[in-house]
Amino acid sequence: PTITYVQNDGTKQELEVPAGKRIMQAAVSAGIDGIVAECGGQAMCATCHVYVDAAWLDKLPEMNDDEDEMLEDTISMRTAESRLSCQIPVTEDLDGIVVRLPETQV
Ligand code: FES
Repeated sequence: PTITYVQNDGTKQELEVPAGKRIMQAAVSAGIDGIVAECGGQAMCATCHVYVDAAWLDKLPEMNDDEDEMLEDTISMRTAESRLSCQIPVTEDLDGIVVRLPETQV
């Protein structure tokens, strides 16, 4: 599946990501700026915050309580499109998904 990461300044980066990888992991291994992921994917740091394009929100796994709580602590404002990118495994269904990166994570 292809994932498009959009930086706060509008720069787009497209990655081909194998299914099963997390949206956070793919960005970190490709060196995409804007995802920090301090806790390494444990839903404990909120520095992998992304805004998921509204068209894709319904296709994501439901948010659990840990994620919901962490999203209360993001540095950039939480919106209805906010998710932790470490909690989103890539699936074929998500092919073409667009995630916007917040202005800052820390
Ligand atoms: Fe820490 Fe996602 S990497 S919450």
